[in-house]
Amino acid sequence: MPNMPLAIAPMHLRNCWHAVLAKPMAGNRKSMVFDQASRPFALYLHWPFCRAKCPYCDFNSHVSNDVDSKIFGDALCTEMAHMASLMPSRPPLSSLFFGGGTPSLMPPILVERLIRHAEDLFGFTNDIEITAEANPTSVEADAMLGFQKAGVNRVSMGVQSLDDASLKFLGREHSAADALHALDKVKKAFDRVSIDLIYALPDQSPKAWQAMLGQALSLGLGHLSLYQLTIEAGTVFHTRQRRGEVMALDNDRAADLYEMTQQMTHAAGLPAYEISNHAAPGQECQHNLTYWRAGDWLGVGPGAHGRFALFDPAENLATRNATVTRRSPAGWLDAVAAKGHGIDETQIDSPADWASEIVMMGLRLTNGIDLGVIKNLCGPCDDWLDGDGVEQAIAAGWLRRMPNQYRLIASDDGRLRLNHILSTILR
Ligand SMILES: C[S@@+](CC[C@H](N)C(=O)[O-])C[C@H]1O[C@@H](n2cnc3c(N)ncnc32)[C@H](O)[C@@H]1O
Ligand code: SF4
Repeated sequence: MPNMPLAIAPMHLRNCWHAVLAKPMAGNRKSMVFDQASRPFALYLHWPFCRAKCPYCDFNSHVSNDVDSKIFGDALCTEMAHMASLMPSRPPLSSLFFGGGTPSLMPPILVERLIRHAEDLFGFTNDIEITAEANPTSVEADAMLGFQKAGVNRVSMGVQSLDDASLKFLGREHSAADALHALDKVKKAFDRVSIDLIYALPDQSPKAWQAMLGQALSLGLGHLSLYQLTIEAGTVFHTRQRRGEVMALDNDRAADLYEMTQQMTHAAGLPAYEISNHAAPGQECQHNLTYWRAGDWLGVGPGAHGRFALFDPAENLATRNATVTRRSPAGWLDAVAAKGHGIDETQIDSPADWASEIVMMGLRLTNGIDLGVIKNLCGPCDDWLDGDGVEQAIAAGWLRRMPNQYRLIASDDGRLRLNHILSTILR
């Protein structure tokens, strides 16, 4: 799909937009309305170990055969308590996510210990979502039964492909039959199961992707994560690409597969609710929605990121805080032993940076962003949004403004070129 040239917005539209930006709204930052309890609040726990390193993956994952899960578990509990102390006034957790790496390699007894520790520290909402990522092997599917007893109620399984040649290309250690077998076991134990598939592999034809996606849609799952293969710096695929090998489909053909994905998932009752995520109504991943709605979350474990707002009633001001922990598992363990946490960096964002985060994350979602809410938290739109850029993106068909004027939504086409749009609409 060719890139569309940026159209210049007609003057009447531009004037209309500037009128919206200038219009006084209830709640600027001097009279800000901030209700921490109504914001989604999540905890991310990172397990950084894998059996093998996949050649496309740049997640913080390490191959190690001698992980001492007792020492690691102690350190995760210690850091969790430290992270809790950074956010003294907080609602109960609405989501807990075991991500990786490969959390399905964790002993179920450790998962249970971490869930209990989190519940003691934070409390849980009645309908808390507790997700674990799992690799699709039989052993790990069995481990998931232990995870379920520990309290996990949602599984996200990295199937990646339903075609053995593609799995081989992706360097995966399982076959498509292994994955389907593991999935069957997990589906019997969990109501909420999602799978990840990677598409836009080199030479993948529309017909081949149509057949694979059709098969995935026939599995009766409520959620699918469908990622276009991206070549990340520092990966084996990146090195091979630099040497001249074609490692992914070209942009135009990948865009065709993306369009097909939107149509097929929509027709099957699992429409996109985010660029790569599709769900039956009510099955959306609450954890990832916390990120995309720029809610509050704490990140525990090596290389975990956390972001949370803190409200100062005396100043009537909320600040956006970010933490990043040390990536290396050994370095992180040392830091936790020495200081009680592995945080390497903390940052307080400016209101404009916070607004950019909300816009960047929110435009990934099919229901977009509410400028009124952002203005309340981060100050006047003119400080962080370029009205002309917004009008250009609307004229190009990449953004839509809803009738109430404050909600902006990216079209399917727009979500394909979000980076470009963001570079034109953010100050
Ligand atoms: C933390 S990883 C994986 C969980 C689990 N370890 C596994 O591999 O099954 C989360 C997901 O990101 C996706 N992913 C990772 N690297 C990717 C890449 N370069 N391009 C597209 N998707 C990628 C994969 O679908 C993967 O399942
Ligand atoms: S894709 Fe999953 S299994 Fe492979 S290296 Fe990344 S985190 Fe580990």
